[in-house]
Amino acid sequence: MDVEKLEQEAAKALEQAGSLEEIEELRVRFLGRSSELKLALREVRDRESGISLNALRQSLEAAFEQRRSALEQVELQHKLMAERIDVTLPGERFSEGHLHLITQIRREVEDIFLGLGYMIVDGREVETTRYNFDGLNMPPWHPTRSPGHSLFLADQVLLRTETSPSQIRVMEAQKPPVYMISPGRVYRRDTPDATHSPVFHQVEGLAVDRGISLADLKGTLLHLMRALFGEKREVRFRTHFFPFTEPSIEPDVSCHMCDGAGCPVCKHSGWIEMGGSGIVDPNVLEFVGYDPEEVSGFAFGLGLERIALLRHRVPDIRLLWENDLRFSRQF
Ligand code: DAH
Repeated sequence: MDVEKLEQEAAKALEQAGSLEEIEELRVRFLGRSSELKLALREVRDRESGISLNALRQSLEAAFEQRRSALEQVELQHKLMAERIDVTLPGERFSEGHLHLITQIRREVEDIFLGLGYMIVDGREVETTRYNFDGLNMPPWHPTRSPGHSLFLADQVLLRTETSPSQIRVMEAQKPPVYMISPGRVYRRDTPDATHSPVFHQVEGLAVDRGISLADLKGTLLHLMRALFGEKREVRFRTHFFPFTEPSIEPDVSCHMCDGAGCPVCKHSGWIEMGGSGIVDPNVLEFVGYDPEEVSGFAFGLGLERIALLRHRVPDIRLLWENDLRFSRQF
């Protein structure tokens, strides 16, 4: 075999090779197991041709190695250039989730009452008539006891119609004093429209201690309303009726849109109805084993959706349940 010719041939081919793949192909061709050189090396019988063939192998290997590392450098440079990124370019915005408006308002209310030393209690969405009605002093003929108004799961088991049963459960479980709120879902057999939903959220409040009066209720609701609707808010009370409070009171808050001057949000009255409240009826205290001669309490129940609708002028309660991002993103 012609050592010199092979060497020249290889050198020329190497020079023309433009990529690492081509070099690898050439390496197989000139130095691989079935290359002319390897076959010749295997056949070597005399010392002289052994020396010259081995010298050729070494010089080819060195040449390949040199060319390979040179090309590797070039390819690396290309890659670095191609993949170069400008870290000072503004990034791509990805959409980030956030809490639903109702959750935000629930947490706000929770924070306000935590600040007043109240505990937060999770009630049960599935309740018995004992807690949903009996303990709350609701007579046997009360309309919400009928399956036409409420969603029953079994004879005396229903989806709670209000968060008030939490009051009974907490008072049964502990001695006074009690300062608690209990937010959560409630269920009613209502047809959805702009202001009704068969599922909505309430927050229940209860304070039982020695000497609790209507003034404490008013001060507490005023604090809550100012935190939710602004420092200038005022609260007024109108009498009403609930079976579990005596007297029963409907609190109004002065309109946050017009400061009480009158506008469409407050139906031109300057005041907005905020829910129900009152002084806990002695029958309720007796039901849970408290002594009405010793302690008294106030209670209230507010709708979280109502707070959201009013504060953000949302025209339809159903928007809060549809999970349309175009809506939810605004809050
Ligand atoms: N449970 C009443 C409702 O759903 C709201 C309510 C009124 C709760 C007066 C109270 C209360 O705790 O004292 O309409």
